[in-house]
Amino acid sequence: MDGGNKEKSNLPWIEKYRPQNLEELISHNDIVNTIKKFVSEDRLPHLLFYGPPGTGKTSTILAVAKQIYSPKEFNSMVLELNASDDRGIGIVRENILSFASTRTIFKSGFKLVILDEADAMTRDAQNALRRVIEKFTENTRFCIICNYLSKIIPALQSRCTRFRFAPLSTDQMLPRLEHVIKQEGVNVTQDGMKAIVTLACGDMRRSLNILQSASMAFDEVTEDNVYLCVGHPLRKDIENIVQWLLNSSFTEAYKNILQLKSAKGLALQDILTEVHVYVHRIDFPVKIRIHLLDKMAETEYRLMSGTNERIQLGSVVSAFQVVRDTIVEEAAA
Ligand SMILES: Nc1ncnc2c1ncn2[C@@H]1O[C@H](COP(=O)(O)OP(=O)(O)O)[C@@H](O)[C@H]1O
Ligand SMILES: [Mg+2]
Repeated sequence: MDGGNKEKSNLPWIEKYRPQNLEELISHNDIVNTIKKFVSEDRLPHLLFYGPPGTGKTSTILAVAKQIYSPKEFNSMVLELNASDDRGIGIVRENILSFASTRTIFKSGFKLVILDEADAMTRDAQNALRRVIEKFTENTRFCIICNYLSKIIPALQSRCTRFRFAPLSTDQMLPRLEHVIKQEGVNVTQDGMKAIVTLACGDMRRSLNILQSASMAFDEVTEDNVYLCVGHPLRKDIENIVQWLLNSSFTEAYKNILQLKSAKGLALQDILTEVHVYVHRIDFPVKIRIHLLDKMAETEYRLMSGTNERIQLGSVVSAFQVVRDTIVEEAAA
């Protein structure tokens, strides 16, 4: 194997399997077709891509750029800036200005400035960008990429054609995952595959990262191995926890869950997310279910603000105790 190939095999799979052309991109057919049409008619507008991480925003614009420019042209015609590297106004003033104002040695065509993760740009920088865009529209096109549209000032939004990148559906992710699995010769069970897709929540980057780390840590990628790999509670852990919550005394339940939590390094937040699915499934009277869900939502909210996990665990166990007492009282009455 030559050096180049070896280097490629060491790449994280998210880079190794970054779509190289528009055909390789899954979903977003309408977006891709629209952009292809713009390109073929040579009237590409300024673009604004927004949507959650791992949905192919960066890959799409890079693939478009590869289609427009030959490898030789690429470096002189495309400026790729990650706006979170340098959030200040300097980036806009210096890099973009000098890139956009140099005349192209190729007679026709425009240059492309890719501003990735632009939601990290300050307002001042965005305002400065507004003027730069206007000034260089004749020979430069901008592609602004962000996760949250609301972080981009309206003046910039109105100068661009917007495309929303939705989270990928399971059906869309599976074939791509299967492709990678085949290329890498990974041994994945049906359950393991399902677990990866469930944990990824429509984020293709996350699914590839989980697949890679699980396949490196275990010979076989099963449901349990996937959950272990990302430190997510296993199904049987959750079954135990629900069992304790519903049947053991407060002290017993609290002690057992705490023990399991520290032995496996589980986050209360993940436990809550999974237990909440059970609460929907268990045949509680409606009033009780509402009470429980409300309490769990409160706990989750408090956890988000960084409160003590032990105290919050106490609160979850208490909520279940109260519910059980109510059921017993009502049965006796
Ligand atoms: N639509 C997609 N089709 C194929 N692969 C994808 C897609 N979206 C994401 N990926 C995979 O995830 C990685 C990260 O994608 P990227 O385009 O950087 O996402 P974003 O910029 O939206 O966060 C890519 O290298 C690729 O392997
Ligand atoms: Mg990106």
